[in-house]
Amino acid sequence: AAWEKQVRLSSTPRRTNGFSVLVTGAAGFVGSHCSLALKKRGDGVLGLDNFNNYYDPSLKRARQNLLSKHQVFIVKGDLNDGPLLTKLFDVVPFTHVLHLAAQAGVRYAMQNPQSYISSNIAGFVNLLEVAKAANPQPSIVWASSSSVYGLNTENPFSERDRTDQPASLYAATKKAGEEIAHTYNHIYGLSLTGLRFFTVYGPWGRPDMAYFFFTKDILQGKSIDIYKTHDQKEVARDFTYIDDVVKGCLGALDTAEKSTGSGEKKKGAAQLRVYNLGNTSPVPVGRLVSILEGLLSTKAKKHVITMPRNGDVPFTHANVTLAFKDFGYKPTTDLSTGLRKFVKWYISYYGIQSKTRKESQATGESG
Ligand code: NAD
Ligand code: UGA
Repeated sequence: AAWEKQVRLSSTPRRTNGFSVLVTGAAGFVGSHCSLALKKRGDGVLGLDNFNNYYDPSLKRARQNLLSKHQVFIVKGDLNDGPLLTKLFDVVPFTHVLHLAAQAGVRYAMQNPQSYISSNIAGFVNLLEVAKAANPQPSIVWASSSSVYGLNTENPFSERDRTDQPASLYAATKKAGEEIAHTYNHIYGLSLTGLRFFTVYGPWGRPDMAYFFFTKDILQGKSIDIYKTHDQKEVARDFTYIDDVVKGCLGALDTAEKSTGSGEKKKGAAQLRVYNLGNTSPVPVGRLVSILEGLLSTKAKKHVITMPRNGDVPFTHANVTLAFKDFGYKPTTDLSTGLRKFVKWYISYYGIQSKTRKESQATGESG
């Protein structure tokens, strides 16, 4: 069928020993960037995404359009659709899965808890069930989250720190994912690598994240809420630029060992790894806002509120020594540089009221 032809074409590598990668969440922020990077270096990529409306689906379709210009095809489907996943693995002998599909967002978990269970737990298990039965078994790299550190107070966070104090249901489902991965590695010999991303931002980003809606609200003259902790300290995040995260994902894929399960003669333990992918330099949210004010040449209407108990943690800070040692991960983009690129993209994508555009062009900030 035409569908099968498209699936095969998209996932066939163009370089010698290239990978054939199933990217779940390919219409998402991180997924679209990684899919493009893999395709550009000659790997075969097939996307899977359910295009849900957690945030503006037209942005997901725009990312899909961009990918289709680079011959990356995205199958519309859900992680929980077992027959669909099985069919994809029947058509394509995937060497790798880059699993990024999830219900993201920390605070939304209080509004729609079931969506986290469905995508991050049930959907992940469904994917692992299909992967374990596939021949060859793919190596799997998947997105965990800095949120697993929860209320851990070690500073910075290292992979061996405690992760038994999640502050949100989102964090609990990501932590559950790490434990589920352990069992599939142990029983079925699946090669699994978890990546704990730290508040990733950049062009084509997520409209539900603070840097994104702060930009929108500042431009529209609306007030923004800045959370402070209960003891009036600033909340800080180890904001990490998308290009750095993409390099980390590719490095993890490149160093992933083969699974040792079905069909493979190799005995012994399959690989199971977890890495921080952060920026190693936490920035208070107030500083994020002042950088945006500068880039947008507009003062924000700031409303400082004591942090509601909404799943947020007071700070995140990554130690990335392990990812550096194993695949040379080294973040290179500071927050001002990264936000400049985001704002440039934002203005070219959404446009801007003419007055503000003129002002920002005068300062050379906008695209
Ligand atoms: P995103 O929401 O932009 O991308 C996720 C994509 O997965 C979306 O396009 C969505 O439609 C799709 N999806 C969700 N549930 C699905 C399902 N059941 N079946 C099929 N598709 C489904 O989010 P993102 O920022 O690109 O995040 C990618 C991954 O990284 C997620 O696992 C997220 O939890 C994790 N993560 C992100 C950040 C960050 O700051 N962006 C930080 C830590 C971890
Ligand atoms: C982000 C992603 O949304 C999660 O999907 C991801 O798992 C997580 O990073 C992670 O690193 O694991 P978060 O850090 O909460 O979560 O990202 P934002 O929603 O962009 O919030 C950034 C900061 O702004 C937080 O400190 C938050 O408290 C603060 N904030 C948010 C405000 O001060 N005001 C707001 O109105 C919203």
